[in-house]
Amino acid sequence: MKTTGKPRLERFTSPERLIHWLTAISFVYAGLSGTALWSRRMWWTAALLGGGETVRAWHPIGGVIFALLLALMFRNWARQMKLDSDDRQWLLLSHKYAVHQEEALPESGRFNAGQKMLFWLQSSSAVLLFLSGAVLWFPALMPRGLRLAAVLVHPLAAVASLGGIIIHIYMSVFVVPSSLRAMLRGWVRPAWAASHHAKWYREITRS
Ligand code: HEM
Repeated sequence: MKTTGKPRLERFTSPERLIHWLTAISFVYAGLSGTALWSRRMWWTAALLGGGETVRAWHPIGGVIFALLLALMFRNWARQMKLDSDDRQWLLLSHKYAVHQEEALPESGRFNAGQKMLFWLQSSSAVLLFLSGAVLWFPALMPRGLRLAAVLVHPLAAVASLGGIIIHIYMSVFVVPSSLRAMLRGWVRPAWAASHHAKWYREITRS
């Protein structure tokens, strides 16, 4: 990771940010159009997105675009998201994070253990959404057992994914200051990096 001159440290590169925000847009589209198809109560979201026929045709395409973008995100970050022994300890003590006692937790690398868990939750639910979505898209080609499984798996994976993203947005917009700026503009202050991601800070400022 290169520095962009004091007092800024590059946290996310332009390609990382572009992929993240395109993934977010496609997620919101696939999520809104999906809920319109899922429940009559949410039918008003179909009106927002061009009507029932449009939503029915475009929801799976939005889902495929989301899955492809998430695959790019996976390629960028999967290696950095592996949990180490500090992360496992962090997870055991994560209640301390919730009460702002970060000093009681093991130091984090570029991503903390909570962020890593979000990444794996989104990656695995995206695989389930993609596979079950393909079954629901072409039902005539699928055996009955697979169709029944897909009807169950698709909304369950969507709820898991949506739950994770609600927490993600809450944490990154409201709880961790400067986090949103890092994803919008790419940089953080050294003091922020040292207090939130101490191992990563040492790694990138070592030379
Ligand atoms: C829709 C609104 C979203 C907002 C406002 C948002 C915001 C952010 C921010 C501010 C960060 C940087 C956190 C840091 O400084 O370390 C981030 C990172 C990340 N985002 Fe999002 N995001 C959104 C949607 C999504 C979606 C839909 C996904 C995937 C399905 C996603 C996956 C990730 C991942 C894997 C990271 C890196 C790990 C982490 O920081 O949690 N985000 N996001």
